[in-house]
Amino acid sequence: MRRQFTIAVFEGDGIGPEIMAPTVALLRDLARDAGSFALDFRSVPAGAGHYRDTGESLPAASMEAARAADAILLSAMGLPAVRYPDGTEISPQIELRMQLGLFAGVRPVFVQPGQDVPLKSPRVTDIDFVIVRESTEGLFASHGKGVVEGDREARETLVITRAVSEKLFDFAFRLARRRKAAGRGKGLVHCVDKANVFQAFAFFRRIFRERAAAFPDIRADAAYVDATALAMVRNPWDLDVLVTENMFGDILSDLGAGLMGSLGLAPSADIGEHHAVFQPCHGSAPDIAGRGVANPMAMILSAAMMLDWLGDRHGNAEMVRLGEALHRAVADVLADGRVLTADLGGSAGTEAVAAAVATAVRIPAAA
Ligand SMILES: NC(=O)c1ccc[n+]([C@@H]2O[C@H](COP(=O)([O-])OP(=O)(O)OC[C@H]3O[C@@H](n4cnc5c(N)ncnc54)[C@H](O)[C@@H]3O)[C@@H](O)[C@H]2O)c1
Repeated sequence: MRRQFTIAVFEGDGIGPEIMAPTVALLRDLARDAGSFALDFRSVPAGAGHYRDTGESLPAASMEAARAADAILLSAMGLPAVRYPDGTEISPQIELRMQLGLFAGVRPVFVQPGQDVPLKSPRVTDIDFVIVRESTEGLFASHGKGVVEGDREARETLVITRAVSEKLFDFAFRLARRRKAAGRGKGLVHCVDKANVFQAFAFFRRIFRERAAAFPDIRADAAYVDATALAMVRNPWDLDVLVTENMFGDILSDLGAGLMGSLGLAPSADIGEHHAVFQPCHGSAPDIAGRGVANPMAMILSAAMMLDWLGDRHGNAEMVRLGEALHRAVADVLADGRVLTADLGGSAGTEAVAAAVATAVRIPAAA
């Protein structure tokens, strides 16, 4: 009996639809040949283009479709020229994060052979770690609530709650456990904070230590955010899972994407207790939109993370295997080096790269 999973698809703006179409086609092919599951894709409107055309950025029906789906696949959203009357940009992905309680922002950082990266070290291909960024509170809890008193002073307030921190740390420890079992991780979680200066971070670290006791098979350590930024450049191959507050995670994630050499390779997931959104780290790249030259790899790697998450959540080993196969196929195309987009030094188009990934998928037999 094949279990059917509904996937809400936000095609997004700019290069969004260009990288989403071949990714959905790849997933359709994998699902068609799968024995244990089927995928039902539902395209849902939202984004800057939709706001420009209709006055709505995230229609209630789209929000409902996202809530009802088993997983959400989202391409980049936003266009610099399309803004709300207050001057801010259209970012439905932030509303989804808040409304669906997606507290764990997962940002993998890895380097495959063939990747042109800024660090020059023979150990560079040993880089394989994950940043887990708390995504619903921290300094971002102050979004829209900041106070500017006259022209003299401004204030924003950081919020750390026990309820969200416990869920966040448990998520990070379980992730480290899965990575270790898969032979990818060291079984190590670092709490990244500024506990030497701020009470809120001492509280954050205390909860981390409490939750660590429930995962005796995983090493737990703590590090200050400034030292972590240095470690990410000096010895990133020693890292495994970094769990941190929202603002720190925001900054370290971009440093992580920088280590990977191209935004076009950096996937991400925003995960909550009941819902999850999978999307590339990059934006809608209006400078190259409409030309068919965008790199689809980050989108495809995000889709691989979605298969892994669905498989883990629903005890479906075939989905986990296919997620891993898709991830490896991207690595093989990169290592081969013949079919790459311009951001990686090649001259191939989006469709050609996606086709090369599809050809490279090798589905391992069940264990
Ligand atoms: N999560 C999201 O949906 C998200 C994230 C960041 C920015 N945005 C939005 O995207 C729009 C553009 O933002 P930006 O220009 O600052 O960032 P961007 O990530 O869209 O582009 C930065 C640079 O990277 C290149 N690039 C990005 N993705 C690429 C890909 N897949 N292949 C090849 N090159 C790629 C672009 O061509 C550009 O030169 C803005 O409206 C912004 O708000 C959305």
